[in-house]
Amino acid sequence: MRRIALVSVAVTAVAGVAAYMGSASGQSNGDAAPIYGIKIPEGYRDWRLISVKQLTGKQLTGAGGELKQLRAQLGNDLAIKAFRDGTLPFPDGAIIAALHWNEASSDFDNQALAAGFPGLGLQSSFAGSAVNVQFMVKDSKKYAASGGWGFADFTNGKPGNEALHAKCFSCHQPAKDRDYVFTHYAPTP
Ligand code: HEC
Repeated sequence: MRRIALVSVAVTAVAGVAAYMGSASGQSNGDAAPIYGIKIPEGYRDWRLISVKQLTGKQLTGAGGELKQLRAQLGNDLAIKAFRDGTLPFPDGAIIAALHWNEASSDFDNQALAAGFPGLGLQSSFAGSAVNVQFMVKDSKKYAASGGWGFADFTNGKPGNEALHAKCFSCHQPAKDRDYVFTHYAPTP
């Protein structure tokens, strides 16, 4: 009887670990990005905010036209903790998500601002349509050749091509002293 109880505890523990590992590696069912084999991490949209950025210039596609993006960086629990504690290098399992949107504005918002603060010419903008989402996944063994980071890019849930992924790590080289991460965490009270 005792033995059965012990076995069942052991089985439950193993099942629990398996379930935990499943959610920790927690990848969705979609396609994996080339080179690093990363899928969109499950639940990433619920991760906490690290920072926000604005990117302006000409369209990256070279097709001309103005580029205006708003960007947000989110972190899973391990990444957020490392940012807050200032831990470098980031621990294995840390994942940073970068969400990119076209910047948009609305007369509705701006008229309300003009009514509340007349004469100041206030103009507000916000995240409009999604452009893409990028991930950096820390696994110091698996991705030893690229500073311990795996890189992945998705547009509408589909991974970008190999040529795109071949550029990620080299362009992150300038941030080598910060474990290849550009984003800073600005604490708020
Ligand atoms: C042209 C250089 C360049 C290339 C190529 C590049 N990055 Fe970045 N990346 C940056 C810079 C600079 C930032 C910070 C500014 C920003 O987010 O706009 C950044 C930020 C990020 C972030 C947020 C964490 C951080 O380091 O600040 C992620 C995640 C990311 N990039 C993933 C990727 C992936 C995945 C690829 C390849 C598909 C890629 N990057 C290609 C330059 C680059």
